Amino acid sequence: MPKVTFVQQDGTETVLDLPAGTTVMRGAVAAGVPGIVAECGGNLMCATCHVYTGDGVDGRFPGVADGEDELLDCTAEPRQENSRLSCQLGLTDDIDELVIRVPGAQT
Ligand code: FES
Repeated sequence: MPKVTFVQQDGTETVLDLPAGTTVMRGAVAAGVPGIVAECGGNLMCATCHVYTGDGVDGRFPGVADGEDELLDCTAEPRQENSRLSCQLGLTDDIDELVIRVPGAQT
């Protein structure tokens, strides 16, 4: 079961064991992780599930598709090289651990 560590801007961490088949966004929202708003519920329409990927993420997810790429230009916090929309990060059993950094703002 993937272990996902969400790191807030102040360094506060939330560590969750999330089942394969869910997304980083759904796991975060279900657990009440601050800073993952996800207004559109994962329908790739809002960009309020923006995160910065950290350790353990390289090569673990498909690349940024066109729709995600467009929305990543509309995030509240600046887009960075490691920016992703967490609703597009589907978890699989191939992932042991990963780190997700939560931006300071989503809207
Ligand atoms: Fe809206 Fe991810 S939840 S784009």
